[in-house]
Amino acid sequence: METDTGPLELWEPAPPAFVHALPALLEVYTAAMDPPPEQLPGRRTIMEQHARHPRFKAVLALRPAEAPGASGTEAGLAGFAYGFHGHRGQWWFDVVTEELRRRDPAAERRWFRDTFEVAEVHVRPAMQGHGIGRTLLERLTAARPERAAVLSTRTGSTVARRLYGSCGFVDVLPEFSFPGSPDQPFAIMAARLPLRGRGGRRRSAGRSRGWRWTG
Ligand SMILES: CC(C)(COP(=O)(O)OP(=O)(O)OC[C@H]1O[C@@H](n2cnc3c(N)ncnc32)[C@H](O)[C@@H]1OP(=O)(O)O)[C@@H](O)C(=O)NCCC(=O)NCCS
Repeated sequence: METDTGPLELWEPAPPAFVHALPALLEVYTAAMDPPPEQLPGRRTIMEQHARHPRFKAVLALRPAEAPGASGTEAGLAGFAYGFHGHRGQWWFDVVTEELRRRDPAAERRWFRDTFEVAEVHVRPAMQGHGIGRTLLERLTAARPERAAVLSTRTGSTVARRLYGSCGFVDVLPEFSFPGSPDQPFAIMAARLPLRGRGGRRRSAGRSRGWRWTG
C-alpha cells in the first residue's frame, strides 16, 4: 500500500502471532487513545481473550524498516484493527443486545443475528489522516461471511464517527453507557456487509481502492 507517508504493508496475523505482537499493538493503542495507564493490563487481557473468539481476524499496517525515512517507532506498526464473530455469551454482545431488546427489538433482530464485531481500529497519531484507518477497516471487513458489522465508539463529532459513517455505519443506540462507565457515552453503530466504499458504492469482497497490497 502506497501512502504519502511512504509504503505500508498489510499483514493478517493468525491469533498466536497477534498475541505475540500485543506489546506493539498496545503501544499504538496508548498513543491513539491516551488511556489511564492502570487500564493497560486489563486491556491486554481483554485483547488476548478476543483472539480466542470465533472467526477472529486482525489486520496490521506495517512500515517496513527499510522504507525511506523510517526510523525509531515510525519503522514499525502504523496501525491495527481486529474483530471477530459476535455471539451470545460475549460480554459486549450481551450488554448491547440486552439494551437494544429493551429500546428497539427490531434493530436487535436486524443487526445482531449474524454479526461481525469490529473491536478496535487505531492508527498511530503521526500517521493519522492518510487513509490508513479506512484501509484497515475495509480490509478487516472484506470477505466476511456475516451479514452486518457492529461496533461501539465515543459519541460526538469524531474522526472515527466520520470514517464509520462514510462506510455506511448508522447509529443503532446513539447514546449508551457500558456497565461501570456511566460517564463515558458511546454510540453503538452497525452497517450491512460488505461495507459501502468512499463513493457510496458497496464494495465487492476483496481488494479496494487500487492500493498496492502486500502481505
Ligand atoms: C479513527 C482512526 C482509526 C481513523 O484513521 P485515520 O487513518 O486517521 O483515518 P483516514 O485517514 O483513513 O480517514 C478516514 C476518514 O476520516 C475522516 N477524517 C480523517 N482525518 C480527519 C480529520 N483530521 N478531520 C476530520 N475528518 C477526518 C475523513 O472523513 C476520512 O475520510 P476520507 O477518506 O473520505 O477523507 C484514527 O484517526 C485513530 O486511530 N484515532 C484515534 C483512536 C480512535 O478513535 N480509534 C477508533 C476508536 S472507535
